[in-house]
Amino acid sequence: MRFRLLSALAASAAVSVVNGQASETYDYIVVGSGPGGGPLAANLAKAGYKTLLIEAGGDEGDNPTYYDMMTFNEAANDEATRWDFWVKHSDDPARELKFKYTTYDTGDGTFYVGNNPPPEAKHLGIQYPRAAVLGGCAMHNGAVCSLPQDEDWNLIVNLTGDTSWEAHKMRQYYQRIERNEYLATGNSAHGYNGWLKTAAGDTSWAKNDNLTGTKILKELAKLTGQDPAKAAELVGSDILGDYPNRDQISSFYNMVQHSGKDGKRSSPNNYIRATLADAAKYPLTLKLHTFVTKVLFTNSTGMGAAPPRAIGVEVVEGTSVYRADPKHIRGAKAPPSKQIFASKEVIIAGGAFNSPQILKVSGIGPRAELEKFGIPVVKDLPGVGERLADNYEGSILALGNAPVDLPGLITLIFRTPNAATKNRNIFTWCGAFSFEGFWPGFPNNYGPNQFTCAMVHIGPKSQAGSVRLTSADPLDTPDINFNFFKNSGDADLAEFVSAANILRDSWKAAGAPATPFKELHPCPGELGKTANCTDAAQAEFFKLQAYSHHASSTCAIGADDDKMAVLDSKFRVRGVNGLRVVDASSFPVVPGAFPVLPTMMLSEKATDDILADAKKA
Ligand SMILES: Cc1cc2nc3c(=O)[nH]c(=O)nc-3n(C[C@H](O)[C@H](O)[C@H](O)COP(=O)(O)OP(=O)(O)OC[C@H]3O[C@@H](n4cnc5c(N)ncnc54)[C@H](O)[C@@H]3O)c2cc1C
Ligand SMILES: *[C@@H]1O[C@H](CO)[C@@H](O)[C@H](O)[C@H]1NC(C)=O
Ligand SMILES: *[C@@H]1O[C@H](CO)[C@@H](O)[C@H](O)[C@H]1NC(C)=O
Ligand SMILES: *[C@@H]1O[C@H](CO)[C@@H](O)[C@H](O)[C@H]1NC(C)=O
Ligand SMILES: *[C@@H]1O[C@H](CO)[C@@H](O)[C@H](O)[C@H]1NC(C)=O
Repeated sequence: MRFRLLSALAASAAVSVVNGQASETYDYIVVGSGPGGGPLAANLAKAGYKTLLIEAGGDEGDNPTYYDMMTFNEAANDEATRWDFWVKHSDDPARELKFKYTTYDTGDGTFYVGNNPPPEAKHLGIQYPRAAVLGGCAMHNGAVCSLPQDEDWNLIVNLTGDTSWEAHKMRQYYQRIERNEYLATGNSAHGYNGWLKTAAGDTSWAKNDNLTGTKILKELAKLTGQDPAKAAELVGSDILGDYPNRDQISSFYNMVQHSGKDGKRSSPNNYIRATLADAAKYPLTLKLHTFVTKVLFTNSTGMGAAPPRAIGVEVVEGTSVYRADPKHIRGAKAPPSKQIFASKEVIIAGGAFNSPQILKVSGIGPRAELEKFGIPVVKDLPGVGERLADNYEGSILALGNAPVDLPGLITLIFRTPNAATKNRNIFTWCGAFSFEGFWPGFPNNYGPNQFTCAMVHIGPKSQAGSVRLTSADPLDTPDINFNFFKNSGDADLAEFVSAANILRDSWKAAGAPATPFKELHPCPGELGKTANCTDAAQAEFFKLQAYSHHASSTCAIGADDDKMAVLDSKFRVRGVNGLRVVDASSFPVVPGAFPVLPTMMLSEKATDDILADAKKA
C-alpha cells in the first residue's frame, strides 16, 4: 500500500517578521484553537479581555472537505492540515512491527504501510493524526458526542476537594455550549442557545423488521439484556440525556455528532469566526500559521523568591515549521522568532502531545529529562508528559454474502459480564463500513458487503504512556509511547474479547442473503465456525492490533500531595504563576468513550475559573 508523502514543494518557510522588536501585549494569550483553547479564547474576549489566540495551522472553515461531515476521513488524511505523529504502542520493537498498518518511509516520497517493507525503507511507527487547523481535531474528527462517566468528573473532586467538578454540576457547561438541533426545545438536560450544534442520526430504519440490520439489532438486544420488542424505540434513546444510573445501563442510543441537522460540522472554528465577526467588536486577535516555541517566564532566583511567572510566549511565524507536518521541508531554516506578552496569563491548549512538549521545552517538566537536553529548569514537574491515557479501540470486521441492509448505525453502550466495575465498558457502533485504526490513506474499503462493529473500551486500567522530548528543539516531534496494556492489560483484553464474542453472536441472526458472513478479524474464516477462534487467540489479536485516537492526561489535574500532578483543580500549572493548561491533557483519566465534548465542557469551565481569578486580582 503506497500513499503520496509530499505535495512537492508546498509552502516554503519564508515569512516576514519584525525580528526581536515585538512589544505586543495582551491580557491573555491562548495557545491552540482546538476544543480546549478555541472556545476559551473566544469567551475571554467576550468578557472584555484583550485576548490573543495563536494557532499553528490555517483556517479550513470554508473548505467542504472539513465542513461536510460525510468526508471526515478525507479531512483526517488531508496534507493541508495533517500533523503525523509516529507513535509506539509498546517498548517491544518486535511487537511494534506486527501492527498491520505500521508505516515506513520509503525514501522516495511515499509511505509503505504493512508488514513486508521494501529493504531500504525506514520504519516510522504507527500514524497518529492530529489536525493543525483553526478548530483543532474537532475539524477532522468523527464528531461523535458522548458524555464522560459521572465518575470521571467525581474523581477530580476526590483528588482535589474541589466540588465544582461534581458530575451534576458539569452538565451546566454542556448545556451552556449546546445548540441542540435534534430534540424539541424544553428538554431540561440540553441547551439550545450555545454555539455548538448537535444533531442525531436517523434511526427510523429500525422499525422495518425485514432488514438484516434489524435482525442483528434485535438479537443484540437479547444479548445485552434489552427487550427486543422495544429495539426500534431504544435505538432513538438520547445518548446525551440525563438518566439516573446512566453509566450502569446497557442500551442502544442515537448517534449524536457536533454538526447541524444540515450535515455541516459545528466546531470551535465556527465559534471563533463568529466572535471575530461579531458587531460588538470583541477584543479577540487570531494569529494563524504561528507556532509557539516557548513560554517566557520572569526570572526568579534565590531563596524565598516568588515562583516564576509566565509573561508571554515566543513564536515562529510561517507554515509547516513543525516537523510533524508532512509538508515540512527538512533542513529549511526556521523563521526568526518573535516574543509576544501577556499581562495576565498564558494558557496552553496544544493538545495531549503538544502541551507537554511546550511545557518541557520551556523548562517545566521532569528535571532529568530537561537537563539531558540542556534545558534550564524553571520548575521540576515529573508528571509533565507522563500518564498518557487513551481509550483502546478495536473492531470485528466481516464480509456478508450480500450487502447488510442497515441504512444507518447501531450504536450501543454496554457492559461485558467480566467488566471490572458495575459500569458499562464498551461503546460500539455497527454498520456497513470498515474502521481498523489509522495509517496514511486509511480506511480500507472492502466493498459493499463489508460490515463492522467498531469498539471503544471505556476506562482503560493502564495509563502508562508518555510524551518525551527527542531534543530541546521545539520544532522536533516528541517520542510518544502509549504502552498499551502495560498494567492490568489481560483484564482489559478479556473485556474486549467478551465484547467481540457478544457482537459476533448477534451477527449470526442476520439470515440470508447476508449470511454466511466471512469474518476477516479477529477470527478469519466463516463466522462462528473457526475452530481456532479461542479467546486467547482473539486477545492476542487485540493486543497487537488495538489502536486509539483519544489521547489525554499528559498534563493532568491531580492532588496536592501527588508529585505527578501537573495542574491544580483550576488548571493552574503547579509551581509557577500565570500559566494554565486547558485541553485533553488536563484530564486525570480519559473521559468516558469520546473526549471531544468533555474537552469543550472543560474549556467552558476554565472560562469561569479564569474570570473568577481575574475579578479577584
Ligand atoms: C482522526 C480523529 C478522529 C476523532 N474522532 C473523535 C470523535 O468522533 N469524537 C470525539 O469525542 N473525539 C474524537 N477525536 C478526539 C478529539 O478530536 C480530541 O480529543 C480533541 O480534539 C482534543 O482537543 P484539544 O483541544 O485537546 O487538542 P487538539 O484538538 O489537538 O487542538 C490543539 C490545537 O493546538 C494547535 N497547536 C499545537 N501545538 C501548537 C503550538 N506549539 N503553537 C500553536 N498552535 C499549536 C494545533 O494546531 C491544534 O489546532 C478524534 C481525533 C482524531 C485525531
Ligand atoms: C470518591 O471517594 C468516595 C469516598 O472515599 C468513594 O466512595 C468514591 O468511590 C470515590 N469516587 C471516585 C469517582 O473516585
Ligand atoms: C416485509 O416483508 C413482508 C413479506 O415479504 C412484506 O409483506 C412487507 O411489506 C415488508 N415490510 C417492509 C416494511 O418492507
Ligand atoms: C532573565 O535572565 C536572562 C539571563 O540573565 C535574560 O536573558 C532574560 O532576558 C531575563 N528575562 C526576563 C523576563 O527578565
Ligand atoms: C485460524 O485458522 C485460519 C485458517 O488456518 C487462519 O487463517 C487464522 O489466522 C487462524 N486464526 C487465529 C485467530 O489464529
